[in-house]
Amino acid sequence: MSEIKKIFVVGSGFMGTGISQVALTAGYEVTQYDISMDIVNRSHSNLDKNLTKLVSKGRLTEEDKAAALGRLSVCDQLSAAADADMVIEAAPENMDLKKDIFRQLSEFCRNDTIFASNTSSISITELSSVVKNPKRFVGMHFFSPVPMMKLLEVVKGLCTSEDTVKTAKAVGQKLGKTPITVKDSPAFTVNRMLVPMMNDAASLLEAGISSIEDIDTGARLGLNHPMGPLELMDFTGIDVAMAAMETIFRETGEPRFKPCQLLLDMRRMGWLGRKTGIGFYIYHEDGTRTPNPDL
Ligand SMILES: NC(=O)c1ccc[n+]([C@@H]2O[C@H](COP(=O)([O-])OP(=O)(O)OC[C@H]3O[C@@H](n4cnc5c(N)ncnc54)[C@H](O)[C@@H]3O)[C@@H](O)[C@H]2O)c1
Repeated sequence: MSEIKKIFVVGSGFMGTGISQVALTAGYEVTQYDISMDIVNRSHSNLDKNLTKLVSKGRLTEEDKAAALGRLSVCDQLSAAADADMVIEAAPENMDLKKDIFRQLSEFCRNDTIFASNTSSISITELSSVVKNPKRFVGMHFFSPVPMMKLLEVVKGLCTSEDTVKTAKAVGQKLGKTPITVKDSPAFTVNRMLVPMMNDAASLLEAGISSIEDIDTGARLGLNHPMGPLELMDFTGIDVAMAAMETIFRETGEPRFKPCQLLLDMRRMGWLGRKTGIGFYIYHEDGTRTPNPDL
């Protein structure tokens, strides 16, 4: 198994910031990259705030926080990945963009650097095809919010070596996650189970079988899920959930992954969930929510 000390995180958005946070508090040296210094600096200040919250809750000492931030550097040049032992990519979910990033990284980094993608649905095998050493390419699919969610899917592409899988799992464990191993396939294991349930929940609503709140209450109390499927879709974004459905449908042809008409119409209306203030629920300024009366 390879020893990992320096981690380079590509993309300092929601997931990249979370991954950097858990890597720093686990003792890794982390370099965060994004396409502009404004973005990485914003992420740095969010990270600082998150660590301050942990200190105020007594889950981290002031000294640990200072040490964690002391291990962090930020940059807007991919070439800064040259001395990284592992790169974890959390850039936007776009095949061409991710391939372009890995093609460049493959030029800058050592032949034994491990390349990991946090993609939710893009083929790890296809991404690995652009790097010089696809044996060192792996999927590391974290769940959001990264500091809270315990699961890590370690995705094995066609050429990923056993050593790379073992190293990715060991890093995941050090980050406080429980890794599961998944063979590369559309949307991997967890989202492959989740997505049809979301589609079914929207179909139940569309058919008038249950109301929005009753569907969510049913899943929370009957299945012991912390959130119902409709509120979860609002949380992750209706468009994001549908993109996963469409990818799996395209690759497998299985009709249960084809988004139902109601979801298509919601996307047409721009009702994408919390981020647009309206989805299955309407999100009010005072922090309350009510079911969307038009559904
Ligand atoms: N949000 C989730 O719940 C979630 C969960 C698991 C996995 N993911 C995956 O993580 C990845 C990132 O998602 P996110 O929610 O953090 O998105 P985000 O939009 O919050 O962050 C993406 C970041 O990438 C940056 N970026 C844009 N172009 C770039 C480029 N060419 N090179 C490097 N960085 C670039 C953006 O400036 C932004 O800071 C996606 O692949 C997504 O599928 C997301």
